[in-house]
Amino acid sequence: MDEFARRMLLRQSNLVVRTRSSKIHIGIALLISTCLLPSGIIHPMTSTDNRPLDPEAKPDDRVDNALRPQHLGDLIGQYQVKENLAILIEAAKQREEALDHVLFYGPPGLGKTTLAHILANEMNVNIRVTSGPAIERAGDLAAILTNLRAGDILFIDEIHRLGRAVEEVLYPAMEDFSLDIIVGKGPSARSIRLKLPHFTVVSATTRLALVTAPLRARFGAVYRLEYYDLEATQAIVSRAAKLLDVPSDKEGIKEISRRARGTPRVALRLLRRVRDYAQVRADGTITKDVANEALNLLAIDELGLDDMDRRVLKAIIEKYRGGPVGLNTIGASISEEPDTIMDVVEPYLLQLGFLDRTPQGRVATRLAYEHLGFEYHVEEQQGKLL
Ligand SMILES: Nc1ncnc2c1ncn2[C@@H]1O[C@H](COP(=O)(O)OP(=O)(O)OP(=O)(O)O)[C@@H](O)[C@H]1O
Ligand SMILES: [Mg+2]
Repeated sequence: MDEFARRMLLRQSNLVVRTRSSKIHIGIALLISTCLLPSGIIHPMTSTDNRPLDPEAKPDDRVDNALRPQHLGDLIGQYQVKENLAILIEAAKQREEALDHVLFYGPPGLGKTTLAHILANEMNVNIRVTSGPAIERAGDLAAILTNLRAGDILFIDEIHRLGRAVEEVLYPAMEDFSLDIIVGKGPSARSIRLKLPHFTVVSATTRLALVTAPLRARFGAVYRLEYYDLEATQAIVSRAAKLLDVPSDKEGIKEISRRARGTPRVALRLLRRVRDYAQVRADGTITKDVANEALNLLAIDELGLDDMDRRVLKAIIEKYRGGPVGLNTIGASISEEPDTIMDVVEPYLLQLGFLDRTPQGRVATRLAYEHLGFEYHVEEQQGKLL
């Protein structure tokens, strides 16, 4: 075989191998997209999945459950809610009654689930945990309700996702502690009213507006959880560091807390990341410098903004001269879902006063310009808003 023919053959065989491997890749991709993704075995990766600042719970946050305060006295911050709950608990105990139905609402990661467990501990009763989407049929709820004992707490997380038919069963159960069930079918069907023990529904939601008015009205106490201030966040991080046996100093704790966006779940996650860094790249102690280096490596700046927040602000400032610009346009220009921007990025930017929501669209404020190091032209910006 001459040299030319040998080379051609080699090239062709390479081609075959390449085609084969790409076929295999395509095959695997197809398998994932057709079988595993829809079945929920594998979840598609989104840009927020890897975000340490995402307030939503992630699988590795489960370790934080051990850090949950168990009693009202251990709970840091939320002073008003705490005070009101203390009165509610004391009054119920004095009357030897079940606690009134309680609804907690507020952004993710602020302690709603924690408070539900605290209520059970303080009242010394059992807690049965479920969630809106988990109760699919009215029969499921009936089964749960008939298994409760007097004083027990039924914790329904994400109550805004409860189905209509299920909600209808919950109304009389919460109000009169009774359960209406239909026995038999057709003309012989009869409605029977079962008496339930006096129990307590404790619920949590991040979207109060989606909880129907009749359901909301059945809660005796409704509390809104607020973001934590720096002092409270520092106390939470410091307590967790002690429980985890991580050596740290005050300044190191402060650096972590400043970037936690007032959310304990985020604060605890950052603490875990900084702990890893301190262990691998330093002597294990969380100091100001160690915390700074670790958080810079995660691209989280001193106000707790990460790459995604900065991309949104920069798009508004650089591409749309500070706005107003619509959410869909921002989403398209940085290849992110508008919903992700609205639910995940905007709340903190609004809280910092970096963003304004106007009827014409989103506007970057002077504070955002200054933080990102852009020059702010007052006349130009005001002219646009007139
Ligand atoms: N006041 C607090 N003091 C100490 N730790 C807290 C406090 N509030 C919350 N945490 C911690 O923050 C984490 C998140 O809290 P929790 O799961 O109760 O939030 P959530 O409001 O139920 O969030 P979601 O809306 O996502 O369900 C928990 O690990 C808990 O230990
Ligand atoms: Mg929760």
